[in-house]
Amino acid sequence: MLTRKSFILAAVLTAAAIITGCKSMGIKIKNNREIKKGGIKKGLVLWYSQAGNTERIGRAIASAWRKQGLKVTSGDYRSFDAAEINGYDIIAAGSPVFYYEVPENFRDWLKTIPSIEGVPVASFVTFGGAGGNQHNTACELMALLADKGGVPAGIEKFSNMSTFAPTWSSGNTGRILKYRHLPDEGTFNRARGYAESVLSSARAGKGIEVNGNFSFNNTMKGGVSIFFTKLLMTGHSIDHKKCIRCGICVEKCPVDAIGPDRDGVDTGKCIACFGCVNNCPVNAVKLRFAGKDVYGFTEFLKRNGITIREPEA
Ligand SMILES: Cc1cc2nc3c(=O)[nH]c(=O)nc-3n(C[C@H](O)[C@H](O)[C@H](O)COP(=O)(O)O)c2cc1C
Repeated sequence: MLTRKSFILAAVLTAAAIITGCKSMGIKIKNNREIKKGGIKKGLVLWYSQAGNTERIGRAIASAWRKQGLKVTSGDYRSFDAAEINGYDIIAAGSPVFYYEVPENFRDWLKTIPSIEGVPVASFVTFGGAGGNQHNTACELMALLADKGGVPAGIEKFSNMSTFAPTWSSGNTGRILKYRHLPDEGTFNRARGYAESVLSSARAGKGIEVNGNFSFNNTMKGGVSIFFTKLLMTGHSIDHKKCIRCGICVEKCPVDAIGPDRDGVDTGKCIACFGCVNNCPVNAVKLRFAGKDVYGFTEFLKRNGITIREPEA
């Protein structure tokens, strides 16, 4: 029976969902800035990629721009000096969707870049499966670039296998394997076509308008989901018997939660991105989720005999 107390709770939760859902509609970027004059010769394609999906799309975009005659710099944002970002005539930035939004480490970095006033900018996101707030995440990434003066020239999203390790570790492998054929040649052709259309609108001096969608997923965005995920995570540590001291877990952790000696994981700092688990080549990162042993993306690919297709250079 619906008690007075549960009715009030349901009403409060519904109101919260509507308010936060509406927040995504607040992402509106008008096409009212001028693309700076002087021609487009130097391009930059930057990405954050934990498990390689976003990197593949970034490489396809970079190679398409090179074929169009641009001098292109491309790579992971962590190997790039933010101070140098204003030396480019066109910029594309890519990110995976994590917890319905741009991962906080990439968001925080983009907030530190200098002004890119008048530079045409494009955003792209990769995601796993349906319904994970992908459009709004691409808009959010664009909003970060536009806040620095970038002129929106395109947003796009690309589907892959999800790298959210608790899904297959809890036995739900079918949900991930449904997308095992992705990325395929069609995905890479779409990325190349996207790169060409962004470049031609930028050359024509035309920007685009960007509008977020209403989405209930926004209720669970970022910190809220990370909080609940972390509640279910236990025993996060390194198995020293298996560890080969390659350092990948230390390098992949975006918040330095694993010390250089790999003697433990600082679970307070951990943002539940699963980068350490996903990339360990010998399955030496121990972690339980809702009581089940978690294994990473590298191990998942091995167990299912999957080799992910790479874009041509
Ligand atoms: C911690 C985590 C959270 C994720 N959350 C979402 C999500 O909210 N929506 C979605 O569509 N995919 C989600 N995914 C799947 C990734 O977005 C997808 O697999 C992406 O292509 C990974 O890109 P990368 O290989 O470049 O890291 C999540 C993956 C991880 C590891």
